[in-house]
Amino acid sequence: MKTKSKQYSARIMPFSVFLSFILVQLSAKLPAIMAGNQKEGLVFSGVQPTGNLHLGNYLGAIRQWVRMQDSHHCIYCIVDLHAITVFQNPEALRESILTTAATYIACGVDPKRSIIFNQSAVPGHSELAWILGCHTPLGWLNRMTQFKEKAGKHRENAVLGLYSYPVLMAADILLYKATHVPVGEDQKQHLELARDIAGAFNRAYNQDVFPLPEPLILGGATRVMSLRDGSKKMSKSDESDFSRIHLTDDADTIRRKIMKAKADMEFDGIYYDAEKRPEISNLLTILAALQDVSVEEAQKPFANAGNKEFKEALADVAVSTLSPISTEIQRLIRDERTYLMSILEEGADKSRKLSEVTLQEVHQLVGFLA
Ligand code: TYM
Repeated sequence: MKTKSKQYSARIMPFSVFLSFILVQLSAKLPAIMAGNQKEGLVFSGVQPTGNLHLGNYLGAIRQWVRMQDSHHCIYCIVDLHAITVFQNPEALRESILTTAATYIACGVDPKRSIIFNQSAVPGHSELAWILGCHTPLGWLNRMTQFKEKAGKHRENAVLGLYSYPVLMAADILLYKATHVPVGEDQKQHLELARDIAGAFNRAYNQDVFPLPEPLILGGATRVMSLRDGSKKMSKSDESDFSRIHLTDDADTIRRKIMKAKADMEFDGIYYDAEKRPEISNLLTILAALQDVSVEEAQKPFANAGNKEFKEALADVAVSTLSPISTEIQRLIRDERTYLMSILEEGADKSRKLSEVTLQEVHQLVGFLA
């Protein structure tokens, strides 16, 4: 018996040595594997916590964020410092920050794989914004169309924060040296400015401190239009609730808003023509995006359909995609407030640590006593 077991252990010895060698090799690589070092780059994006998020935010941004979690390191911010460029009721803002966190998670942002936090919890955003602001010519800010739209005729009364908003946005991205920024089409100009600011800073100190962030304007619905007016962007600030579908809307509300959406009457069948049929084209774009197919594919079954039949089909698809998200947001807000707070705190801790590394480098370069 003894001899047998000796023979046995002698026989397996080389294999066990081999196995332990493999394990040692693997464990050395484990931190890198866990940290996902094979990922392609760092993604940063954010949404303002001003009221409930809508279908445009989902299709233009958050759905892309969810998809990028497998391939990239991801940081998703609730940009509350941006929100106060327009006065916010403090209680409503606090609630909205939590609802936005719940919305990210309900849409599929996974706090185990992505960092989720609120911007004001990481002071580095404001600090880097100041430093970058000292490298941003006024002429660049004067070109920003969003400021012109938002300030409108009352430009003299517009607050400084609204004007310097794009510099803060550049700081958000550059603080983490993000390489990719998934956003809707309306943020394109701000991202071009962020690249210009990064370039200006790098040139000033003759160092490649910041990578030039790549805008990712992806998916079939990068500019979702209002359900009441096909020439206007779907927006939180539109006074008509029927102009947008909130991610917190229940199934009945989603259906009602789609059935009441503006549509033309003078054409036969349903087909895409953004110029002549902006509202129907917008609804087709939404359907295609929700089904993850091209517009040509989405419109095929409706060549001979009327508006009602088409809208009913769209409502079915919208309800089946969006109402589980809405139910989950409601559940998180009702039952999981402590959990949501802990996700934000954990996210802010991680972001603060990452931001300090960049800030130290920046302090050194600009000549502060690091
Ligand atoms: P915000 O809060 O206006 O919008 C959040 C995201 O939703 C996209 N979006 C849309 N996409 C398609 N159709 C629409 N109708 C629609 N409306 C909004 C926006 O393009 C955006 O991606 N400045 C940003 C927030 C921000 C940010 C950042 C983004 C601050 N810092 C750094 C990226 C990186 C804003 O106000 O987004």
